[in-house]
Amino acid sequence: MTSHTDSSAKLLNAVTEGAEKGVIPASIFGDPDLYRQELRNVFGRCWVFLAHESEIPAKGDYVLRKIGEDHFIVVRDDEGEINVLFDACRHRGVQVCRSDSGNTSHFRCPYHGWTYNTKGNLVGAPLWRNAFGGMSKEGNGLASAAKVASYQGLVFGTLDESAPPLKEYLGGMAWYLDLVFGLNEHGVEVLGPPQRFVIDANWKSGAENFSGDDYHLGTLHRSVWEIGAFPVPFHENMMGYHIQASPGHSLSFSMAQDADEPGPNYFGFPDELAQSFNTTNISADQLEVARRSRVFVGNVFPNFSMLALPMTEDGSHHPPVGILTLRTWQPHGPGQVEVWNWFAGYKNLTPEQKDRAYRAGLGTFSMGGAFEVDDTEPWITVSRTGSSTAAKLLDFQLNYEMGKPGVGISKPVKEWPGPGRVQWTRYEEGVQRNLYTFYAEMMRSAPGEWPSLAFGEDAADTGEESQA
Ligand code: FES
Ligand SMILES: [Fe+2]
Repeated sequence: MTSHTDSSAKLLNAVTEGAEKGVIPASIFGDPDLYRQELRNVFGRCWVFLAHESEIPAKGDYVLRKIGEDHFIVVRDDEGEINVLFDACRHRGVQVCRSDSGNTSHFRCPYHGWTYNTKGNLVGAPLWRNAFGGMSKEGNGLASAAKVASYQGLVFGTLDESAPPLKEYLGGMAWYLDLVFGLNEHGVEVLGPPQRFVIDANWKSGAENFSGDDYHLGTLHRSVWEIGAFPVPFHENMMGYHIQASPGHSLSFSMAQDADEPGPNYFGFPDELAQSFNTTNISADQLEVARRSRVFVGNVFPNFSMLALPMTEDGSHHPPVGILTLRTWQPHGPGQVEVWNWFAGYKNLTPEQKDRAYRAGLGTFSMGGAFEVDDTEPWITVSRTGSSTAAKLLDFQLNYEMGKPGVGISKPVKEWPGPGRVQWTRYEEGVQRNLYTFYAEMMRSAPGEWPSLAFGEDAADTGEESQA
């Protein structure tokens, strides 16, 4: 008899071997054993995005977030440090924080009243002398994430003491985060609290789509062009780069071949804002890539995605405006994902520009937005296929061959100022193969061991030509 562990191991081997060939077993989108292993080996170990610093600017500000399926309080303490506290009372494990966000000096458990400060230290309990006199408060605080760190205002946490530093984990992706979030010295802030909604799909469908699935735009989102909500024609929009920034992390740029080509640049951010973009925080190369860019979409493994692009809330009445969305694909069971969706903008946008960016975001990438509604429906059927008996019995493999040597027009690029394996034109699925290759390695690596966070010498996945 095959045990559950054996079948998960078999599936993971099939992912590794398949990713190289351009096939992925459909069952990874619905297998319940694999899902439990993901909570332990992926979400229990990787750096996961929790919040943007602008959500908790003042001492005592907090937001309630998740690592995997578990609740954590992300709170700025009296010294201005950000703590990530496991939301479970040390007494009986009761959830102590019942609000999505707020400002407080203490968290008080509703069950027996144990009280913790913003560092998570136990500071008191009712009738302390009678009940606990003689017991040490130390060691009875809330548990904390093993490590917490920020990059470009993005706050991440990990439950794994052996995790490499955040910057090392981000690897080549840091260069690309810089050029989206570091264009001027004012930086980015969120525009209001995140939207949240649950859909019957697997979290990996969101992660792989935002790693750079541009091929679906002309079919699934055709209506968006038809109503004039997006300013770049489909074929032109497919021109650009797919980049495997480092193992697991990928992104995609739609980009003008020449910086002076007509059309939006700087992701469609308003011209007046673009005048404040400079090389204070980023290199001239990074600034130039941003200038030529129309769309940026990317995913930091496992479940943090971003998108910057010109969009309009109403194509016939408004010109496009640059929108920036941050999102997490929160696992919610093998067949459910909770989508968290923030809109963000540069702090020195005018209130009117922020309002327009927010509205354009709502009309496109939000619970009721045209793009979001288009996207989520097919993902529901991916997870249905993934959990099907047929997929298991037929050993059903999905095709991820686009951009392999001899398949399609995409080619490796040697001249590129940034890190990673780069392909020109977005007719390419190396970015997804990168996601699943690292996923399988992470799933298999024993506690304390980490898969390589840099690409080896061979450029197997990008064809025969090696990368500069
Ligand atoms: S469970 Fe929190 S005080 Fe008892
Ligand atoms: Fe889409």
